[in-house]
Amino acid sequence: MKEEIIKIKEEILDELKRVKESEALAKLETEYLGRKGKLTIFLRQITNLGDEEKQEIGCLANQIKKEMISKFKEVKGVISNVSKDVFVDVTLPGEKSTLGHLHPVTLVQHELEDLFKSMGFMILDGPELESDYYNFEALNIPEHHPARDMQDTFYIEEPGSESGPGEQKRVYAGKKSDMVMRTHTSPMQIRAMLKYGAPLRCVVPGRVFRNEATDAVHEHTLHQIEGLMIDENISITNLIAVLKEMLSGIFNQSITIRVRPGYFPFVEPGLEVDMQCMICGGEKCPSCKNSGWLEMLGSGMIHPNVLRAGGIDPDKYSGFAFGMGIDRLVMMKYKINDIRLFNSGDLRFLRQF
Ligand code: DAH
Repeated sequence: MKEEIIKIKEEILDELKRVKESEALAKLETEYLGRKGKLTIFLRQITNLGDEEKQEIGCLANQIKKEMISKFKEVKGVISNVSKDVFVDVTLPGEKSTLGHLHPVTLVQHELEDLFKSMGFMILDGPELESDYYNFEALNIPEHHPARDMQDTFYIEEPGSESGPGEQKRVYAGKKSDMVMRTHTSPMQIRAMLKYGAPLRCVVPGRVFRNEATDAVHEHTLHQIEGLMIDENISITNLIAVLKEMLSGIFNQSITIRVRPGYFPFVEPGLEVDMQCMICGGEKCPSCKNSGWLEMLGSGMIHPNVLRAGGIDPDKYSGFAFGMGIDRLVMMKYKINDIRLFNSGDLRFLRQF
């Protein structure tokens, strides 16, 4: 028995030499001195010994226990001092936290908003989920116009007869509703006219949605800015002046534009607006496909039917409207060659702005 307890003592001393951290030390303490620890169990066995042996071994065992307790204390002290000794240099520069910033499309959208604000335009916001009426009907887009083609438009299906329990409940049986993801920002023309009447000057930046396959120049989710100016005696001259001001402001240089006839059901006459290629200055280069001009936007004088749908008297008022894709403008401004980069979430791309 005597040898046994001495062996335990040596085991403990040996282990204590190797222990380097408080967690391992605590584990070791429980292993030997805990309620089910080796030393504790040994001490319990002493009661079964004969009187003489009990006294001798008991005495030795108690002494060893005391010794071990103070040894543990000692090692504990050493370990905690070591950890206190770890040098912390508070003068070292901290880790820099990375800050987010605005998306290039948002940056240009804000620039556009500032330009229009300076010309006295209101900035409006409209619903992305829009009714067929505002998206098409009120804009003089007849029922069978190609723009209504299912190919371009995301129609939203109405909650119909639910097909099953649980998850499947969210799958709506294919009943077509009259709600669409807006295909352009033009429906806000009607909403703005109905809300504010004439005279009116506003622009509406926002997201629009097209049901089409994506490639380097096509996306299903795009950004547009719609513009509207209605008053007595508004003419194409006003339109050209405002558009020139906007494009010159965005490209930080004087921009030459030209207008061509174009067809949009909500304007008459309808115009396509091109700007002179700012890369070659109209001299023809690959960026403008050797034409010297870049297609920028659609516009025109608001169709009387559209003014009427907006509650405005076409005999008293006239106005112009335009709609421009913001994504393409950003691509031109920063020479970006793939529209899909905008929604890619690729930080290597985004960090450049
Ligand atoms: N809404 C048209 C489109 O998405 C763009 C447009 C053309 C808007 C002519 C207008 C306009 O306001 O007058 O293609």
